[in-house]
Amino acid sequence: MELPEWANVMYDVIVFVGMTFVYIIESILLTFIPRNYRAKSMKGDIALITGGAGGIGSLIAKKLAKLGAYVVIWDINKTGMESTVRAIRENGGKCCCYYCDITNKEEVYKAAKTVEIEVGSVTLLINNAGYVYGKTLMDLPDDEIERTYRVNILSHYWTTKAFMKEMMKNNHGHIVTVASVAGLLGTYKCTDYSATKFAAIGYHESLFSELRADGYNGIHTTLVCPAYINTDMFVGVTPRIPMLEPEHVAEEVVSGILVNQAVIVLPKTTRFLLPLKYLLPAKSCWALMYNILRGPQSMMTMKEKEEKQILKNNNNFGIISNSAYAQ
Ligand SMILES: NC(=O)c1ccc[n+]([C@@H]2O[C@H](COP(=O)([O-])OP(=O)(O)OC[C@H]3O[C@@H](n4cnc5c(N)ncnc54)[C@H](O)[C@@H]3O)[C@@H](O)[C@H]2O)c1
Repeated sequence: MELPEWANVMYDVIVFVGMTFVYIIESILLTFIPRNYRAKSMKGDIALITGGAGGIGSLIAKKLAKLGAYVVIWDINKTGMESTVRAIRENGGKCCCYYCDITNKEEVYKAAKTVEIEVGSVTLLINNAGYVYGKTLMDLPDDEIERTYRVNILSHYWTTKAFMKEMMKNNHGHIVTVASVAGLLGTYKCTDYSATKFAAIGYHESLFSELRADGYNGIHTTLVCPAYINTDMFVGVTPRIPMLEPEHVAEEVVSGILVNQAVIVLPKTTRFLLPLKYLLPAKSCWALMYNILRGPQSMMTMKEKEEKQILKNNNNFGIISNSAYAQ
């Protein structure tokens, strides 16, 4: 005898409530077990990090190498890459870098093939490279809007497609998306940046859903949403809540990867502020953003990107992968 639909729904709801209860107890119990007791080993892993030449990318690369992973860096900043590779090797770690502009799809696919041949199959992909121009909409040059989209979101499609095939074959791997709190809340001077980070979060959650629904339980995903970090990206901004230190963010990202943490929001207290966006009246939300957090005001002091830097980056389109630093 077939049950009526309402009985099926009731059954599914009861199972869901039971599972939620178990998962909440599991989460509470896990908070009492230090993360280093639950950490997976990185030995034998090949970790590829985009934007690993500086900022939090370089720190994450150093930490992963210390844990025994073979680290591969992709970036357009040669000097930064060389100094990160040197520092890792001096500490006995394994690392190499390739000059790869991730906005260029063909270059990404070419560089991915080179990595596969010269290093091996990537088991941990960290989509970390990011770009911000920092102007209000009418002052944003069209090519800068496009560049922001190409670096912050379109590249994720190319890099993930390039490396996920092998992960799927072995049902083993880990994909990390470095998004931002600006991907959860729109911010002043960030019509482009915020939009790409919202997109990165949507991309990541959809990818997670595809992997789980299709049975790839051995491929883990971690979404990282930090607030302002004290790197070269948002120079001059004056947030009311102190900036995060890069070392702290890198440590949290690596610890999260080691325990297959699904979402990392930093500072952790931000998790409690976010639901207010949907719970409070819109005017009250704006008052919280403008009068208490002073979000827009903090972006007004952001320093102009140096013309030289922008030109340097723009001149780097059509880059060749570079195995000169490969170990
Ligand atoms: N700094 C912050 O306040 C902050 C806050 C939240 C999220 N984030 C995100 O964290 C990530 C790392 O940021 P960060 O603060 O370390 O920035 P950063 O500017 O110090 O580092 C970004 C790196 O990406 C590289 N990069 C840029 N364009 C590239 C391209 N086309 N191809 C290859 N590499 C490219 C840069 O050369 C640089 O090494 C970014 O995704 C950023 O959006 C940063």
